[in-house]
Order: sequence, then structure tokens, then C-alpha cells
Amino acid sequence: MPNEVDLYDGHYGHLDADPLVAVRRETYDEDLGQASWITLAEAREFLRALELAPGLSALEVACGSGGVLCRMALETGASCVGVDINPEGIEAATRRAHTLGLASRVSFQLADAGRSLPFPDESFDAVFCNDSINHLPGRLEVLRDWFRVLRSGGRVLFTDPIVVTGQLTNEEIRARSAIGFFLFTPLGCNERLLAESGFLVRDVRDLTEAVASVSRRWRDARGRRRDALVRLEGEQGFDGLQRFLDAVHTLAAERRLSRFVYLASKP
Ligand SMILES: C[S@@+](CC[C@H](N)C(=O)[O-])C[C@H]1O[C@@H](n2cnc3c(N)ncnc32)[C@H](O)[C@@H]1O
Repeated sequence: MPNEVDLYDGHYGHLDADPLVAVRRETYDEDLGQASWITLAEAREFLRALELAPGLSALEVACGSGGVLCRMALETGASCVGVDINPEGIEAATRRAHTLGLASRVSFQLADAGRSLPFPDESFDAVFCNDSINHLPGRLEVLRDWFRVLRSGGRVLFTDPIVVTGQLTNEEIRARSAIGFFLFTPLGCNERLLAESGFLVRDVRDLTEAVASVSRRWRDARGRRRDALVRLEGEQGFDGLQRFLDAVHTLAAERRLSRFVYLASKP
């Protein structure tokens, strides 16, 4: 069934189109091709927590167009692999790695991360997943698979922007999840499932403010380019995404839906 509102196909398919680049420049501290709530400053904090270094390897689950992973490889010297289910995202990510001269240690593959990942046991020193775990069904199976592909002593860091911390109406849930499959997770559930998967939970932090501010900037930057974006997305597509961003902003600003980052390690 097609999604009610398209975000990812349009985003990755027109990644370098003028209005989308201009929107990302106004939304983020640096345009990394994001389709999420991550800024470069935040990505650097995540990298520090993952303790990557030359000679180590990292997997990004649902890497989108690969900008964050390429930056991770550049700033840490680690070898990196990204997977995503969106073919245009993977194509854009592969182009980016080549353009940046990173192809010898950064690669991207098409994969459905809701299923067992196409890697042998104990392949990576770190697993990273930003604002995407909410698109994967079966949280316990997903975490157990991340545990499987991590080496002993390895770290996992993921954000979940769909942690339920207040009341939501059915209309609000529909608007917030109009772009695809969403798993809404109650507060405390991720910590429990991490422990059940064998991980030691090291840190949990509330990053809801990032969602409230990035979604506002994203929506407003798009609003200022309505005509150009309507030519790309059609009127219905443009309005649908604006309604989605409105819902994201309201629910985050009112702390009814929260974004948390989880850092855990494999003993
Ligand atoms: C919010 S975007 C985040 C992308 C990237 N991590 C970022 O921060 O820009 C969510 C990503 O999840 C991907 N995705 C959704 N379902 C997936 C699945 N079953 N397997 C792999 N990737 C998936 C989408 O294609 C999209 O790139």
C-alpha cells in the first residue's frame, strides 16, 4: 500500500535539487543530506560515544543517503558500511562515498533492516541507527540481530524519536506516521528490550528538543519555497509533508512524543 505522504522517495530521488538543498541548509548546521532530526553537532557527539577509530568498523542501519556515515568515516578513520531499504538513498550514498574518495573503506548496500542483516556474526565494532528504528517492526528481534553482528565489547547507539510520553489522539498518530510504517514505543521499553537482548545499557538521554527545533526550521524553510517545491512534489505532496512536519513539531514541543538516544554495549 503506498504511504499517505511521501518523504523518502522524493528526498533521495531529488537530493541535489535546488529547493531541497536550500531547505537543508536552512534547517541543519550542515547539509549532510539528512532526512531526520540529526545535526552535525549531534552526530559528532554520537561518534565520540561510539569510540570509533582507524582499524575499527561500524555499521549504520537505515543510513539514508549516507552523509552522516561518510562524515563518521572521515572524522574517525573507521571502516563503515551502511544499509537502507531505499534504492535511491543507497545510490546517492554510494555516489557520495566515491566523490569523497572514501570508496575503499565506506560501502552501502540495499537491505531490509527489519529482517536479519546480511552480515556474519561479530562483524562490527559499532552499530549506529539514527531516527530509523521506529520504521522497523519487531524491536526485540532487531536488537538481537544488532547484538549478533557486534563483536564482544562493541557499542550500539540509536535514537528513537517515537517514544510515547503523553497522550495522543488517533488523528495525531495518523499525521505523525503518514510517511510509512511506524512503531510507537512506551517510555522505558527500549531499555528493557536492550537488556533482554543481552546489552548493557550505558546511557539514555532525552533529545526531544532537537526534534522540536529541526522540524520547525524544516517546515518553515519549505514554506518559504512553496512554489519551487510544489513543482517538484505536487500540491498534495507538498501539503502532506507540511502537515507531517506540523504534527512532528507540535508533539515534540508539547513533549507528548519524545526522542531518546540509547547507548549500550555488548559484554
Ligand atoms: C528518518 S530517515 C533517517 C535516515 C538517516 N539515518 C538520517 O538520519 O538521515 C529513516 C530511514 O529509514 C529507512 N528505512 C525505513 N524502513 C527501513 C527498513 N525496513 N530497512 C532499512 N531501512 C529502512 C528509510 O529508507 C530512511 O532512509
